Amino acid sequence: MSSEKGTQKSFISTQDWDKEELDKLLSLARDMKLNSKKYQNALDGKSICMFFYNPSTRTRNSTQVAAYQLGMLPTFNSIKDSWIGYKGSESIKDTAIVLARYYDAIGIRIFPNAVDWKYKEGNRIMREFSKWASVPIINFEDDQFHPLQALTDIFTIQEKKKETKGKKIVISWAYHPKPLPVSVPNSILLASTKYGMDVSLVHPKNYELDDEIMNLARENVKNCGGSVSVSNDIEEAYNDADVVYVKSWGSLEHYGNAKDEKRMRLTYRDSWRIKDEHLDYTKKDSIFMHCLPIRRNIVADDSVVDGKHSVVYDQAENRLYTAKALLYYLLKD
Ligand code: CP
Repeated sequence: MSSEKGTQKSFISTQDWDKEELDKLLSLARDMKLNSKKYQNALDGKSICMFFYNPSTRTRNSTQVAAYQLGMLPTFNSIKDSWIGYKGSESIKDTAIVLARYYDAIGIRIFPNAVDWKYKEGNRIMREFSKWASVPIINFEDDQFHPLQALTDIFTIQEKKKETKGKKIVISWAYHPKPLPVSVPNSILLASTKYGMDVSLVHPKNYELDDEIMNLARENVKNCGGSVSVSNDIEEAYNDADVVYVKSWGSLEHYGNAKDEKRMRLTYRDSWRIKDEHLDYTKKDSIFMHCLPIRRNIVADDSVVDGKHSVVYDQAENRLYTAKALLYYLLKD
């Protein structure tokens, strides 16, 4: 059997890419936001297979519209309509090789519940696709990373704050009724440290992020400047922040065991619901970010999500430009 192991460049984590390349993506996204017409049909005749094990609003639609504006064919595939969805019916290898014969890129979303909460299994499957497909694999969010979101977040911070260096970002846990993936906090932590920000990670005890990710963040600080600190105290962490990035995530100690985690999680329901008073600890012109979807008045109050600090809709809009920039960068001959 011949191997079709890919030599193509995939986008699975921002950590896999040099900062200079990420800078190129961001610069391209800025130009695409300003000069959309310039890129119209620039990828005419190309195609992307969008493969979803889990639901999505922003990732699916921003990529679909980005592809359309570039002249591409985007197709939506639910796992339920694929043989992979019937366990044991088809291997990742065969699926990846075959899809790569039809398409120029493959985007995949795979959350922890799609891999029975076996930690990092989603990311392993993502990399397995990348190993066999002869076209780029784009991570639409797995159980470890959400690189398109992180790229958009840096884009949005640069847009609102002009630069990242010297700016303080709080990556803040918040209450949510369910344990959510760690992909977004991991990704914004890695991206913001790569962009030299002063990062203050705040969460209750027992919600520590993976040591491996923390070590990568500290390595980024060594290489790119800035700082990273961890705290369990919201007031201290939010103090003087330029950016407040709120996201809930599940405790790794109880990973895949939501029942056991629930009692601990419930104790944080009120104290870790983000309110105006929390934003008051920050700079006057600080921005409130959330990747959405957000459970209003559970994760954060309406007055925060709709308030003067909030940039959540601009952040969501920017998903379009970064998706477009990535497709163009990966697929333009
Ligand atoms: N932020 C984000 O990835 O949104 P969706 O889950 O709607 O794609």
